[in-house]
Amino acid sequence: MGSELIQIMVANQPGPPGAPRSSSGAAGEAASCAAWGLVNERITANGAYGAGRRPGPANADQPSETVATAGRLKTFYIETFGCQMNVHDSEKVQGVLMARGMTPVESHHEADLVLYNTCSIREKAAQKVFSRLGVFRKGRSGARKVIGVLGCVAQQEGERFFERAPQVSLVCGSASYSKLPELLDQLETGKQRLTGLTLDTGECFETEMTRRHNPFRAYLTIIEGCDQRCSFCVVPMTRGPERSRPSDKILAEARRLVDQGYTEIQLLGQIVNAWHDPSLARLSFAELLSRVAEVPGIRRVRFTTSHPRYFTSDIVQAIDANPNLCEQIHLPLQSGSTTVLARMLRGYTREEYLEKIHGIRKARRAISLSTDIIVGFCGETGKDFEQTLSLIKEVEYDQVFSFKYSPRPNTLAEGSRDAIAEEEKGRRLTELQELQRQIQVRRNQALLGESIEVLVEGYQARLGQAVGRSTTNRVINFPGSPEDVGRYLTVKVTSAGPNSLVGARAEKDSRV
Ligand code: 5AD
Repeated sequence: MGSELIQIMVANQPGPPGAPRSSSGAAGEAASCAAWGLVNERITANGAYGAGRRPGPANADQPSETVATAGRLKTFYIETFGCQMNVHDSEKVQGVLMARGMTPVESHHEADLVLYNTCSIREKAAQKVFSRLGVFRKGRSGARKVIGVLGCVAQQEGERFFERAPQVSLVCGSASYSKLPELLDQLETGKQRLTGLTLDTGECFETEMTRRHNPFRAYLTIIEGCDQRCSFCVVPMTRGPERSRPSDKILAEARRLVDQGYTEIQLLGQIVNAWHDPSLARLSFAELLSRVAEVPGIRRVRFTTSHPRYFTSDIVQAIDANPNLCEQIHLPLQSGSTTVLARMLRGYTREEYLEKIHGIRKARRAISLSTDIIVGFCGETGKDFEQTLSLIKEVEYDQVFSFKYSPRPNTLAEGSRDAIAEEEKGRRLTELQELQRQIQVRRNQALLGESIEVLVEGYQARLGQAVGRSTTNRVINFPGSPEDVGRYLTVKVTSAGPNSLVGARAEKDSRV
């Protein structure tokens, strides 16, 4: 391996396949995982995207107070925490706001409307919004701004938010985003204390106004909400029940994305492979993957996050049959111990999980594997933890996103009496991450000398380096030029570290 491994971060990207991020090596919590993580994205892109306000009757869950703010919401600022679903929701919200004629601005200082799209997957993530809101306390700068809180913490806290943070005027969970135009109308007229907290909606957040940030990779939601009841997880309470989008709408959006110039699509869902087709076409998830991959102009299709329980062999067959489906599967394990898995209510055993992995390993294509793991779940013994380590050694993932268990409100595991000490959780996390770091170094170094097709996503002038991603979602840095950005190039791997590769342009480029 070269001694100087340069890593260039691609700005504003959430977890894989969104971001080159260290997932092992350092003590403390992993940076992120495929569907989640510590994304912290500020939406500030400029440019008009249509105009005209949506008419709509005043309609909120709760009665509201009115202050003199009517008609003054001209600029907005959104900051996003959490998973790719949140990032994509913010893209949709931004589209809705811009369609009303509002302009995004670079910082909350300049904004009439400030929105925080929040994450509550772990306690640390949930706390972030409260520290942000501190600067808007009544009587301090920004008191005249309209502040809204969206996403999972909004849903979790509901109206309590107004008590905790009286500067907030809007609290809206993701299952109520279809109400946003009406709620925004009310905010414009100066109403305060508006909520959108209904969970029992059958609707997806459908909008054609989405304002996407990444010029190459487009997120496309295919299923919202979650019906699983994993005992550690807050998502069913914050994102509502599962709602699948019909295949014809998904395919129409995929075609629109190609028309807009996208070549890579990432299908999103909390449990993406639980998708079922509500339309008469009745496609299976694997059939949907193939149909999206066949849309002319699409070069890469990814999907996240899969649940092992619904991971069927036809998904692997679809990847084998369609070169446009990326060689990458993220399959959260959570624990390598069947006992812990049962307490987590995951619905599979260690052996069943491994069977799925063996099915993936038998594929014709060399599919890259990543996973999420929680250490220190209630009652996890030293032996249970050893089982997780041994499974990691057996599978040899390309990436592992690991987290200390964090008790969440209203989950079945909340308040369990067999909690593991924080110090011990930290020790286990460090041990796991060190093991995985060694595996990643080994696996990445095995690629030395290979030529890889890379979609170039960025260029750093100071270093003269371009950065891109392989079909397996590996990050590769190589000497390049600004013109390379957005192109598919062939890069030969010259050195490899745990989290990224370094390469040089190969003689012959792949089709551009
Ligand atoms: N504590 C720690 N990690 C969690 N995750 C979900 N809930 C918790 C929790 N309460 C992790 C899981 C999941 C990923 C999105 O976040 O690994 O797959």
